Amino acid sequence: MNPIIIDGKETSRKVLHNLRTDIAQLTQHGHTPGLAVVLIGEDPASRVYVDSKVKACEELGIYSQKWVLPTETTQKELVQLIHQLNADDRIHGILVQSPPPAHIDEQAVILNIDPRKDVDGFHPINVAKLVLEDHTGFVPCTPLGCMELLNTYSIPTQGKHVVVIGRSMIVGKPMAHLLVSKQANATVTIAHSRTADLLSICRTADILIAAVGRPGLVTADFIRPGAVVLDVGINRVEDATRPRGYRIVGDVDYGSVQPLCSAITPVPGGVGPMTIAMLMSNTVKACKLTCGA
Ligand code: GUN
Repeated sequence: MNPIIIDGKETSRKVLHNLRTDIAQLTQHGHTPGLAVVLIGEDPASRVYVDSKVKACEELGIYSQKWVLPTETTQKELVQLIHQLNADDRIHGILVQSPPPAHIDEQAVILNIDPRKDVDGFHPINVAKLVLEDHTGFVPCTPLGCMELLNTYSIPTQGKHVVVIGRSMIVGKPMAHLLVSKQANATVTIAHSRTADLLSICRTADILIAAVGRPGLVTADFIRPGAVVLDVGINRVEDATRPRGYRIVGDVDYGSVQPLCSAITPVPGGVGPMTIAMLMSNTVKACKLTCGA
């Protein structure tokens, strides 16, 4: 089989291009969308993600604030900043990069974000809106990006069996809700680390979505020939042959899986670039909702 290689870079470029018109119009009417990105600590991977989010804002004409707080920042200080950002009219979206240091109670922080500015879709109000299929809420960016890829590549979901490996609040659970919604009409199985006979379940998938953070977990024997595979994993593995000493791989063993699929996302260049594009899209949506555009 000669699979379609799903190009997340190109698809994200299209999403960003389409946002430009909206951003220009909003700005003309005095409503420039604004995003605040908050990073606590020094985690190098998180720094890269935060910088690329700010860069995307700059390229699009979205106003941005980058807050890099020391690891020792207290819960109280962080919540104070969140309240300040809630009250800042220039800011329509607030994102606290996950994971924060261990002494921070992430859920308590999220509860302090105004749900109308929660462009990550992590606040319980937005989780509920996703489940209720209330489209005024915000959906987490990575699963939203996966849906965008399926739509762009005209991959049907109606009546299909989708197996999502991973039950996180960032990817697995919202992914399953989007797929089972009346817009997508898929039949969804959520598998996780305690699932019995993962392999047999995955082999029944028309669409397999891997979001567990385990490099190369999904091998050829997991794949029903002709399946569509979306790889959400972004894992650093040691590689002495690379200048940085590591390379990025997904949760899917691309080499063995790719020949069996009808379509597959590579890592890097698949789901990854979509996350930022959908963050920009959610920020524009937040701006539109607050200014009534
Ligand atoms: N860390 C990894 N992915 C994400 C994301 O989508 N949002 C936030 N806030 N942190 C993350």
